[in-house]
Amino acid sequence: MIPQWIIEKKRDGLTLDDDEIRFMVDGFTRGSIPDYQMAALAMAICIRGMSPAETSVLTDAMMRSGERLDPSSFPGPTVDKHSTGGIGDKVMIILAPLVACCGVTVPSIAGRGLGITGGTLDKLESIPGYRTGLTTREFIAVVSACGCSIAGQTPSLVPADRKLYALRDVTGTVPSIPLICASIMSKKLAEGTAALVLDVKCGRGAFMKTRDQARALATALCEVGHRMRCPTTALITAMDQPLGRAVGNAVEVAECVEILEGRGPADLLEVTLALGAQMLVLGGIEPTGERALERLRPALASGQAFEKLKTMVRLQGGDPRALDEPARLPKASLSASLPAPRAGFIADVDAEKVGRACVALGAGRVRTDDTIDPAAGIIGLLKPGERVETDQPLCTLLAGSSTRLQEARRWMDNAFTVAEVPRPVGPLVLETLSAALPPSPATPGTRNPP
Ligand code: URA
Repeated sequence: MIPQWIIEKKRDGLTLDDDEIRFMVDGFTRGSIPDYQMAALAMAICIRGMSPAETSVLTDAMMRSGERLDPSSFPGPTVDKHSTGGIGDKVMIILAPLVACCGVTVPSIAGRGLGITGGTLDKLESIPGYRTGLTTREFIAVVSACGCSIAGQTPSLVPADRKLYALRDVTGTVPSIPLICASIMSKKLAEGTAALVLDVKCGRGAFMKTRDQARALATALCEVGHRMRCPTTALITAMDQPLGRAVGNAVEVAECVEILEGRGPADLLEVTLALGAQMLVLGGIEPTGERALERLRPALASGQAFEKLKTMVRLQGGDPRALDEPARLPKASLSASLPAPRAGFIADVDAEKVGRACVALGAGRVRTDDTIDPAAGIIGLLKPGERVETDQPLCTLLAGSSTRLQEARRWMDNAFTVAEVPRPVGPLVLETLSAALPPSPATPGTRNPP
């Protein structure tokens, strides 16, 4: 096969055959297809798109580029959750141990933060000793011992995605629904989950800014999941405001502890329970979302989920005392509070500005090789609808240097809108989507429809 003819075919808006897609992915992974040809194909896909069948074949080819974990080695039904990323999204740290307490096994390969959205691995690494770089054997051992593990991608898991994502990052080809779908789904399918719940974030603080964009991505992800025989449900959740009152790394772990101790912000709890209910239903533990909630709430209230998180942390080398006493988590040397300019009600907190301020504080990275400050971040964020008095802190910024504090302040200066009267607060869970399973066995390997 001739790579440039395949590129030309996609450039001209035609449908690629399965073997053409597999040839490009295999060649790129092995190094026989150079970066410039793969970048040209990625750009052609970005502009011309791919059919659901082509996207499934791309996902399958990427998934098969490396090692795949065998779900039968895990106890119980396996269901993972993936979020497309938002500001203050620490849900997975509560959710994985919570659903594991209810009989769902969660083998979760998570990601790092890039740009304004944070990453679960960075947050967990703020716990002293916590190792995200587990070997496959270690990952399987933790999942088998406690029902959940949250770790990073091993070098042998979906190497095609590792290479392609790095290329997309520098060639303007990240925002493509088929490429995003194949990237996310190939990793989730390779980790050995039998079903998947997706949290597609929508709004200023998310990758997908509009409801239509979020729905298009959620639909495409569900479709690939079902074509690959992986039952998939997607919730579209609001990401115009930050989730919870803390954004950063150690500060988000501390907020997870609050929820696990029966305190914590209501919005974070609501999204966690909504996703958890879907995981229990997909795992066949409960028949309906309502019944699932009846199982999740006691697991949280009894402290069982908190104990499970501490077990997972200990098994991954972390110090669980940092969860019992969050004062043991990294502490920022400097702080500054942001006073309310006037009295009133919080009408809006711009998640994008909060995210940018956190990057300025050192809590996020601009380039994949940047290091982060685990102690930096924002705490005490007031939420829409709350009453505020003049000069009362709207939030507190934490950093390791005054330069960083000053830079972050510039983003935060107009992040809050204070109104004279309370404004209605919109729903958090905007839509729930899932796709029907196709009638015949998996499509990958078959020819695309015309
Ligand atoms: N997250 C991924 O894992 N891949 C993408 O392409 C985008 C977001």
